Amino acid sequence: MGATYETRGKVAVITMDNPPVNGLGYDTRRGIADGVARAVADAGIAAIVLTGGGKAFSGGADIKEFGSPKALAEPNLLSLIKLLEDCPKPVVAAINGVCMGGGLELSLGAHYRVVAPGVNVALPEVKIGLVPGAGGTQRLPRVLGVETALNMIVSGEPVKSELLASVPGQKLFDRVIAEELLGGACSLAEAMAAEHAGGKPLPRVRDLKCTHPNADAYFQFARNMVKGMAKNFPAPAKCVDAVEAAVKRKFDDGMVYERELFLALMMTPECKALRHAFFGERAASKIPDVPEDTPVRPIAKVAVIGAGTMGGGISMNFLNAGIPVTILETKQEALDRGLGVMRKNYEAQVKKGKLKPEKLEERWALLKGTLSYDDIKDADLVIEAVFEEMGVKEKVFTTLDEVMKPGAILASNTSTLDLDRIASFTKRPQDVVGMHFFSPANVMKLLEVVRGKATAKDVLATVMQLAKKIRKTAVVSGVTDGFIGNRMIEQYSRQAGFLLEEGCTPQQVDKAIEKFGFAMGPFRMGDLAGNDIGWAIRKRRYVEKPHMRYSKTADLLCEMGRFGQKTGAGWYDYQPGKRDAIPSDVVVKMIEQHRAELGITPRKISDEEIVHRLVYSLVNEGAKILEEGIASKASDIDMVYLTGYGFPLHRGGPMCYADTQGLFNVVLAMKRFAANPHDDASFWQPAPLLARLAAEGKSFT
Ligand code: NAI
Repeated sequence: MGATYETRGKVAVITMDNPPVNGLGYDTRRGIADGVARAVADAGIAAIVLTGGGKAFSGGADIKEFGSPKALAEPNLLSLIKLLEDCPKPVVAAINGVCMGGGLELSLGAHYRVVAPGVNVALPEVKIGLVPGAGGTQRLPRVLGVETALNMIVSGEPVKSELLASVPGQKLFDRVIAEELLGGACSLAEAMAAEHAGGKPLPRVRDLKCTHPNADAYFQFARNMVKGMAKNFPAPAKCVDAVEAAVKRKFDDGMVYERELFLALMMTPECKALRHAFFGERAASKIPDVPEDTPVRPIAKVAVIGAGTMGGGISMNFLNAGIPVTILETKQEALDRGLGVMRKNYEAQVKKGKLKPEKLEERWALLKGTLSYDDIKDADLVIEAVFEEMGVKEKVFTTLDEVMKPGAILASNTSTLDLDRIASFTKRPQDVVGMHFFSPANVMKLLEVVRGKATAKDVLATVMQLAKKIRKTAVVSGVTDGFIGNRMIEQYSRQAGFLLEEGCTPQQVDKAIEKFGFAMGPFRMGDLAGNDIGWAIRKRRYVEKPHMRYSKTADLLCEMGRFGQKTGAGWYDYQPGKRDAIPSDVVVKMIEQHRAELGITPRKISDEEIVHRLVYSLVNEGAKILEEGIASKASDIDMVYLTGYGFPLHRGGPMCYADTQGLFNVVLAMKRFAANPHDDASFWQPAPLLARLAAEGKSFT
């Protein structure tokens, strides 16, 4: 399979056939090339129509082939496009459904293009850190005009075909055909065959002029815009360079330049990071021992227990996806409060113009509040989000076990408690799973799906599929204290504390890691989330694990009542009603005094050391999590950090970053840190997996 060939009168119809989106893998390219050769050789054929089977024309390169030699095997995409362009018989592209990346570039090799309305058209390469590499930057400006084309290339966003067809002077589409696309394409093909029968040359996009009335000023402007928007990524600026070449160079020179840019970008760490995230997102939904065809349980009704911070946000996800939710509370007052917060949240979206008022009402109509388990017993999925106390969870799960219909999935949003214990409160532990949302739950992309020792495979498959429906990136975690994300962040926080003891100020640490690309440093983050939360956790944890050394600085801060933004003071000072973090003399004095009590002479610590100590503490714990099988692959850990913890996308996540640095270098740095008397030598003992990979010259990913 790859492409099929049939004839309709004098027209040969080549249909790409590589589900789901006709990716341009080797077999498809071969199939198209063979079809063209056959049509050219057949004297009874006057013209060719190229179209896509199923729901797409073509989604572009076949991601299954990415990076393999097959991706470049002849006919590669460039030669295929040239083959269409040089074909002596008219080639009409009949564009249906989706036309993206290499698919759009391929269609630009055809002599004519007809399109259905509603087709998503895009050159999304910039999203994986590249410029389009098969002539997109040279041909699209010739048919759409420089500005519209550059806009599409720099943003990577899809645009509807009818909108593009309305661009004045556009030559991208010859016709928009609402019904019978293929029939229309064949008629055009026959007409064009007749028109060109006498030897009139066929139109080629490459021969069109590419001009801009004010090119220098325009490209300068475009460059300035792009610089501000994409500071950590090189590709958008290269898109501008490539399109400028379309205006200023001959077509063939422009093509060579585009290729050079494409190949150079391919080697950049930013491009590697983006591709890693792109594939990591897809890989996260695959669980090694859960086959992809595992039957899933239908989820038509959801119940949520607890209408607090998390319960409300969690419910909104399902309402937004059109799934009815019943939310249960113990008291009317708490229920009213919870529903009120949700309503306000929706109304704020309407005010900002992000949600239409009628949509709000549509969603709201799907929501019910109740105080009675009777009203939720027929739900297909129930998610518990009550207080984080085992006793409370026990009561809830015992009741759920009694009332819920057989086969209902019983999920807990616990962030720190043992899911296996929670499952043991029921007689159906196979139906119990963790769904650990992040706050605010209606906004944050990440969902950790916690797999208990008894969780059934079809429960996991169902939850992973449901996660896609509510637009979450779901990552499976085994049962462990803090799951993947919080277990790692604990080490990062410990290390941040040691940095203060040794000589840093909170803002020095925050600045260094923010310059590295984190959305927020650990201390600003603590002030936002509330320092009292970590305090409560430490009180519990370090009583249980007295051998684990940590800096007491954060406890001293809490003893001063400085819980963060909510108390107007934390690691930083805050002015009433404002969120700007102002360095605090009081805090700096407190840290200095504590340091003196510990007998530490402060030293100047470089930004590089700060960043590496913080990030490698994530990496080392990540390696342990991987080795214990808590995460099934390194990219899962990276997805947790990219989608839930503000890790900079252009670094690809902690494990990807460690690979980029070289694990050998990571281990060397850790040995250096371990020799520091004020750090904790046991902290920097490399995880066995990390040590082994480094010794063997291997990487995590
Ligand atoms: P919250 O205190 O805002 O809300 C808990 C709600 O549960 C309250 O409205 C309370 O009235 C209700 N509730 C208590 N016992 C109940 C019962 N037996 N039946 C029905 N409702 C009951 O707490 P929050 O922050 O929403 O946390 C809920 C759960 O989510 C906890 O397990 C927490 O660890 C977890 N979590 C919290 C995150 C956060 O950032 N706040 C993040 C991820 C998980």
